[in-house]
Amino acid sequence: MQNLDTLLEQALSDLSRTTDPVELEQAKARYLGKGGAITELLKGLGKLDPDARREAGAAINRAKDAVESRLAERREAIQAAILERQLAEEALDVTLPGRGQETGGIHPVTRTLERVQAIFHSIGFSSVSGPEIETDFFNFTALNIPEDHPARAMHDTFYVDAEHLLRTHTSPIQIHYMMENAPPVKIIAPGRVYRVDSDATHSPMFHQLEILWVDEEVNFTHLKGVAADFLQRFFEKEDLKVRFRPSFFPFTEPSAEIDMGCVFCDGDGCRVCSHTGWLEVGGCGMVHPNVFAHVGYDAEKYLGFAFGMGLDRLAMLKYGVNDLRLFFSNDLRFLNQFN
Ligand code: DAH
Repeated sequence: MQNLDTLLEQALSDLSRTTDPVELEQAKARYLGKGGAITELLKGLGKLDPDARREAGAAINRAKDAVESRLAERREAIQAAILERQLAEEALDVTLPGRGQETGGIHPVTRTLERVQAIFHSIGFSSVSGPEIETDFFNFTALNIPEDHPARAMHDTFYVDAEHLLRTHTSPIQIHYMMENAPPVKIIAPGRVYRVDSDATHSPMFHQLEILWVDEEVNFTHLKGVAADFLQRFFEKEDLKVRFRPSFFPFTEPSAEIDMGCVFCDGDGCRVCSHTGWLEVGGCGMVHPNVFAHVGYDAEKYLGFAFGMGLDRLAMLKYGVNDLRLFFSNDLRFLNQFN
């Protein structure tokens, strides 16, 4: 009994130090549980005489009440702390900036293709495609480039095996299309082409665009008109100068190289046009009768023009890009400028 005050003090401070429900229950058991210190004192009361028992009993019960009320206080405080912690952890900071969604962009070459297609579709051409792995026949022979023809050496070809190669131009698409479709033909054929070549203006893979119009009355003036109109619309320059220079392609006769006035210096002469005022943008000509013979078209009845352009080159000229490799290196610093 002399120790009751010490015991009570100890119990209250023990309880005050508890920080979680488990510790609290353990502390409770130490004092009020079955073998707890206060419970033991109450059990010992029987040994006292009645007067002493009453007095001691009252003192122990006061101590027990004090412990119980401290216990209730702690329980409430611990619950409140738990709730507070939980609220803090689960809190939403509505002032944080959002994660956002980055906007993607259309690749400049794709964007160029879309512009090109919109222009040609508006004057009645349809888009077609063909295989990237070709046979010698489609890539060369049917285009009037027989074996041992020197023009084959100009195409630095990637061979897949003895019979197959990666097409070196989009012209073989003309052959596929004409073999499968009777005239009239009015198509454009964009696609990837491959050549063993790599520097700032050449890439082993690049894009070309083929244009083919075959009908009974198609002549060279149509070719000039369509090419010039296309370039003027594509470069958004109504007075853009376009000229044809005599040239040679095995699959066209006559053939020409298409030049346009330099869009960077307006024809005055600059580094891009090598101070000539002109930029070369493609090759063209009237479809060679031998090509018609290969696809079974009557060269006496039908005439056609064809031209081919580099799509990447059109994109470079349109957007002022001076290194072709930028299109294929996936550098977001470059690509994001087109978003
Ligand atoms: N196929 C040629 C090349 O890759 C480009 C070309 C020239 C296409 C004249 C044509 C054409 O359709 O008529 O260099």
